[in-house]
Amino acid sequence: MKGIILSGGSGTRLLPLTKVTSKQLLPVYDKPMIMYPLETLLKAGIKDILIIVAPDHAGDYLKLLGSGKEYGANFFYEIQDKPEGIAQAFIIGEKFIGDDNITMILGDNIYEDDFSETIKNFKSGGHLFAKEVSDPERFGVVKFDEQNNALKIVEKPKEFLSNFALTGLFVYDQRVIEAAKSLKPSARGELEIVDLHNWYLSKNELKVDILKGEWIDAGTFESLFKASELARKKSKS
Ligand code: TTP
Repeated sequence: MKGIILSGGSGTRLLPLTKVTSKQLLPVYDKPMIMYPLETLLKAGIKDILIIVAPDHAGDYLKLLGSGKEYGANFFYEIQDKPEGIAQAFIIGEKFIGDDNITMILGDNIYEDDFSETIKNFKSGGHLFAKEVSDPERFGVVKFDEQNNALKIVEKPKEFLSNFALTGLFVYDQRVIEAAKSLKPSARGELEIVDLHNWYLSKNELKVDILKGEWIDAGTFESLFKASELARKKSKS
């Protein structure tokens, strides 16, 4: 299993902070945001990690994270020239992924859960993680049947589907590269991660677990503040 941290994007919801730096380098309590998803991958036992960044602040990531030696890991870097969608990461990462399975985490997603067991036991298909939220219209949303099997996935649903948001950690087998290459850009000009989820769902090869611990997508002022509060609370406990 290899890992990708996707850390590009525009961060427009955090302007003017993101005028001078990248969203995922902003402080969450006592360290840059990206350190949290990095720790999630390291804790899960992933040693080879590709960090995908936007061109503007690429040097700052290298300065912060370096070769990975300090963490007993190997870090690799790629540039996403334009924010053309989360699913594009699997095309950018094609050579890095090779014939291996891949866990991708978004650089602004902060988790309490430990994914070691899931990753150790993963064989093929796709494995995602959902969390109940009060504002599902902001996220990719999953509807479950009575046995908690995923039935339907919709990006930012206009009509209520369920309260379960899909969070930013995706475990896929190597076929995700071909699936990503087959996608057409959406109306907003992006290769959509939800289309990859549906590619696996339509083959009946998608598993969705419900997270036990806290999860924060730190991309808004409110959630960035909440993330700092959570990190502070955990550091004191
Ligand atoms: P978003 O938060 O949806 O987008 P954004 O980071 O550009 O922020 P905003 O909406 O405020 O302008 O992206 C989720 C995560 O995925 C975030 O960590 C950035 C990353 N991302 C990329 O790296 N490349 C992309 O093309 C996109 C769309 C997102």
